[in-house]
Amino acid sequence: MSKKVVVAGGGVLGTQIGLICAYHGYDTTFWLRSEGSIGRTEPKIKRYSELMLADLAQAKALVGNPMGGFMYPRGLIADWKSATVESIDELIEEGKKNFAEKIHIELDMKKALSGAYLVIESMSEDPKAKIGVYNAMRDLLDEDTILVTNSSTLLPSMFAEYTGRPEKYLSLHFANTIWKNNTAEVMGHPGTEEKYYKEVVKFAASIGMVPLQLHKEQPGYILNSMLVPFLSAAQGLWANGVSDPETIDLTWQLATSAPAGPFKILDIVGLETAYNINQMKPQSQVEGTTEYKIGKLLKEKIDKGETGVNAGKGFYDYR
Ligand SMILES: NC(=O)c1ccc[n+]([C@@H]2O[C@H](COP(=O)([O-])OP(=O)(O)OC[C@H]3O[C@@H](n4cnc5c(N)ncnc54)[C@H](O)[C@@H]3O)[C@@H](O)[C@H]2O)c1
Repeated sequence: MSKKVVVAGGGVLGTQIGLICAYHGYDTTFWLRSEGSIGRTEPKIKRYSELMLADLAQAKALVGNPMGGFMYPRGLIADWKSATVESIDELIEEGKKNFAEKIHIELDMKKALSGAYLVIESMSEDPKAKIGVYNAMRDLLDEDTILVTNSSTLLPSMFAEYTGRPEKYLSLHFANTIWKNNTAEVMGHPGTEEKYYKEVVKFAASIGMVPLQLHKEQPGYILNSMLVPFLSAAQGLWANGVSDPETIDLTWQLATSAPAGPFKILDIVGLETAYNINQMKPQSQVEGTTEYKIGKLLKEKIDKGETGVNAGKGFYDYR
C-alpha cells in the first residue's frame, strides 16, 4: 500500500503539493477546515490537475527539440533524455488514474491524520492560524508522523514547540507551479533530528522535486534571500527614474545570459506580492524614500489591474 501524505490547507500551493504527491503515487488526503473550503479547493484541484496534464501533453511536441530540456515539466517527467511520445502518454494515463484514485478530502482532522507518514502544512501565512492547527493536531498525530511546513516567510523554530514533535518538524518549501519549478528547499530548526531531515530530503526527491538543503535556518531560504534584494534593486532603479523596466531587463539579460530580467520575474511573481513585500518595509511609509516611490508606482499598476502574467498585463503585455 502506498504511503499516506496529508496536506493541511487547500489553497494555491496546498492544492499543487497534494496533486504532485498523488501524481507520484502517494495516497493523498487534503485536510480542510469546512464545507466552504471544499467548495474553494475542488475547483483548484480540477484546474491544476488539468494544467499538469496539459503540460505533459505539450511536452510530447518537445521530444527531440534541443530546447525541450529547458521547457519540459520537470516535476512530472523524471528522465527527459529517455522520454518518448509513448512514455509521456503512459505518464498521462497514470497521472489521470492517480488523480482520480489517490486524492481524498477530509474535514475530520482525526480521520485525516490517522496513519499519515507525512503531514505537509500549507495554510495561510498567519502564525496564529498555524499555531492553532498545530495545537489541534499534536495529540492526533501518530507517533512516527513527520510534520513539515511550506511557509515562505516564517521560521520552523517559531512553531516547533506547538507541534509536540519538534524533532520531527521542519520546513519543506515548494515554489508556485510546482510541476515545472520543482525546487524543494529543506530547512530544519535547531531541534530537528537529522534522520527526519534526511527522510524529508528523500521524500522531496520521490515526488519529482530537487531537494535543496539548507544547513541552518535562514529567513527567505536560499532563493528569496537572493531574489528579494535583486528585485528591490531593480525596482529602485525604475522608481528613481534611472531607467525603464525594458532597459533594466535587457541589461540583466545581455550581461548575464539570464532568460528573464527582474521585471519579467515580477510579472510572474505578481505585482500584489511585490507590493505586499514592499509594504512590510518601514521605509515604504516614509515619503521621499525609494521604497515609498516603489510602493506608489506598484499601487498605480495594481489599481489599473496590471498585476502580471495572470492578469494578461503587468510590466509587459501578455494578451
Ligand atoms: N503562493 C505561493 O506562491 C507560495 C509559494 C511557496 C510557499 N507558499 C506558502 O504556502 C502557504 C499557503 O500559501 P497559499 O499561497 O497556498 O495560500 P492560499 O491563501 O491560497 O491558501 C491558504 C489555505 O489555508 C487555509 N487556511 C487558512 N486558515 C486556516 C485555518 N485556521 N485552518 C485551516 N485552514 C486554513 C485556507 O482555507 C486556504 O485553503 C503559506 O505558508 C505560503 O507562505 C506560498
